[in-house]
Amino acid sequence: MKGKSPKDSHTIMNELVLPNDTNTLNNLMGGRLLHFMDIAAAISAQKHCNRIVVTASVDNVSFHHPIKLGDVITIEARVSRAFTTSVEVRLDVYAENIPSGTKVKSNDAYYTFVALDQNGRAIPVPALIPESPEETELFEGALRRRQLRLVLAGKMKADDATELKALFFATEKK
Ligand SMILES: CC(C)(COP(=O)(O)OP(=O)(O)OC[C@H]1O[C@@H](n2cnc3c(N)ncnc32)[C@H](O)[C@@H]1OP(=O)(O)O)[C@@H](O)C(=O)NCCC(=O)NCCS
Repeated sequence: MKGKSPKDSHTIMNELVLPNDTNTLNNLMGGRLLHFMDIAAAISAQKHCNRIVVTASVDNVSFHHPIKLGDVITIEARVSRAFTTSVEVRLDVYAENIPSGTKVKSNDAYYTFVALDQNGRAIPVPALIPESPEETELFEGALRRRQLRLVLAGKMKADDATELKALFFATEKK
């Protein structure tokens, strides 16, 4: 299977924050943003895999700035690494207030998707070939993030998480 570049899965999604998306403070609800992010990430994963994909996990997400009613959110998604049947998608979220001309980064996150065949079984995906230094950094960090999420999901023994252990060992020596 031919490898793909992160450009192949690059996806940009825009949404206008409407009253039905907000809480009583007129800020975008966190869960609504996670929903928009899931859609952008799924489109990106599908572009990479050319398959139906399902969300396997969402890493912890922190919301740094409230997003206000009337703001425009921009979600950029691209595959940061492909494994055997799963892909990690990196998301960057921005909030723009068009009348005031301000745009701030709200948060970033990683979603993991598994590609499925017609019978709903996990199926191998194309490799991801990073090109820029930033893409290479995301690609390398993905192994560590994968181990952390699989350990937390009870799908990997902490003892087998070699990348994670190396990280903690390096920190201890400082
Ligand atoms: C995600 C799902 C397909 C995994 O199936 P599974 O039989 O448990 O998983 P397997 O052990 O065969 O692994 C399949 C892949 O999923 C990955 N995976 C499984 N659980 C994961 C998790 N919690 N986080 C990240 N990746 C995960 C595995 O690492 C593996 O990827 P790889 O082949 O690239 O190494 C299955 O749990 C599922 O269908 N879940 C529901 C998905 C869904 O409906 N999502 C929408 C939200 S309701």
